Amino acid sequence: MMSMMKPTRKLLFVLCPMLVLGFIYYSSGKLHLHVWGQKPEPVVDTLLTVGRIVGSELAAEAQPCLRKSRGTVNPPTLGPDCRQEEYVGRATSIQKSSVMSDGRKIVRTKNVYDKQGFLLKLDGKLPPELVYKYGNLSEGACKPGYAAAKMTAIYPKFMKPAPMFLDRNFKRLGKVSNYMPPFGFKTQERIIDTILSATKNFGLGPELDSLSCKKCIIVGNGGILANKSLGSRIDEYDVVVRLNEAPVSGFGKDVGTKTTIRITYPEGAIQKPERYEKDSLFVFSAFKPQDFKWLRQMVFKEKLRGTEGFWKSVAQHVPREPSEMRILNPYFIQEAAFQFIGLPLNNGLMGKGNIPTLGTVAITMALHNCDEVAVAGFGYDMNTPHAPLHYYETVKMSAIKESWTHNISKEKEFLRKLVKANVITDLTHGI
Ligand SMILES: *[C@@H]1O[C@H](CO)[C@@H](O)[C@H](O)[C@H]1NC(C)=O
Ligand SMILES: *[C@@H]1O[C@H](CO)[C@@H](O)[C@H](O)[C@H]1NC(C)=O
Ligand SMILES: *[C@@H]1O[C@H](CO)[C@@H](O)[C@H](O)[C@H]1NC(C)=O
Repeated sequence: MMSMMKPTRKLLFVLCPMLVLGFIYYSSGKLHLHVWGQKPEPVVDTLLTVGRIVGSELAAEAQPCLRKSRGTVNPPTLGPDCRQEEYVGRATSIQKSSVMSDGRKIVRTKNVYDKQGFLLKLDGKLPPELVYKYGNLSEGACKPGYAAAKMTAIYPKFMKPAPMFLDRNFKRLGKVSNYMPPFGFKTQERIIDTILSATKNFGLGPELDSLSCKKCIIVGNGGILANKSLGSRIDEYDVVVRLNEAPVSGFGKDVGTKTTIRITYPEGAIQKPERYEKDSLFVFSAFKPQDFKWLRQMVFKEKLRGTEGFWKSVAQHVPREPSEMRILNPYFIQEAAFQFIGLPLNNGLMGKGNIPTLGTVAITMALHNCDEVAVAGFGYDMNTPHAPLHYYETVKMSAIKESWTHNISKEKEFLRKLVKANVITDLTHGI
């Protein structure tokens, strides 16, 4: 057919669509400005795409970075020519689309997720499906799957399964096998095998492991716990997690008396053998490769030889049976650092400001392994420099130094998201 046309008609055939395209381009630009000028949106990054409802190719052209994502909570999938930066910058989900009287279709996309992948607009409301699911439970009853469901609602990438402790199959944990400590166990496989062959236990114990719903509380060491008489409330939780050498004896009224697990790294371990409490699990969290060697010496009751590589003195002896010792899954350090907080990857190696604090690691563990998660004793109030830093010492807040390893402010941003969305409950309101 084309070959039979006169050259002028051929030219018209080419010109016509170009004019149409030109007009649409021009009007879309105007519309863009118009909408922006008229109603400034409080959204960080609003992207408007305009296309013609007839002529789907053009519509597709107008939004090269998006594929259909309507009606899903997940971030949209990317078009073929979309680079990762564009996705991060625009992280979108189509919110609204409207058809104008002249047939133009306006699709408004909003940046609903932040750089880390958390919903920008957080509130504590329960999604309707959860209102129904928990509707018949009595006040205060444990809500199965609550923390994970709330977490998934604000962070769709969340995948719940991640064992609390390493067990004999630990080498199958793909996400941690390729990272060096603290983000994984690479180079430490043999020593871990040796340790696990002695500990032989990999859970919380028969009673807790068989609970169909577990409420956990992470007790931080903050001075904010002092004089609040929260002890009896803390003791009501099924699992009470304490960190490093934080004492219980003598502080029961404020911090409770029960300890289910105590998570520790070598420099933080209780040094006086008589201060170890009975009936708690000694849970080891490694931050450096040499930490595993220390643990092996503690498990096998060997004499500690050489303490180089530690940044302060370490316990010489841990008076617990191997069956009461566990190794915390390093995935929680990795996930907290790189996924949740967004600390520098540094090729997957420990570096400036990329190590999460033990408290945040413990919260991350609980999100994966508890049905409900609470915290107490977290957060420093920098406006009160004379308040005590820890509940058990007189060291003042003002003594806190710039940390090389942690990024307290970025970490706090993450914890605030969890509190704001009611994923976790903060009993002392310090976060
Ligand atoms: C709650 O109780 C009502 C009435 O007994 C029942 O119809 C409903 O299915 C229950 N909902 C759930 C989620 O169990
Ligand atoms: C807690 O109360 C005791 C005794 O009244 C007091 O000495 C101490 O300073 C208080 N601590 C804080 C952090 O308020
Ligand atoms: C913490 O993160 C912020 C923002 O990324 C950065 O500016 C700051 O230097 C970091 N602090 C440390 C101690 O790494």
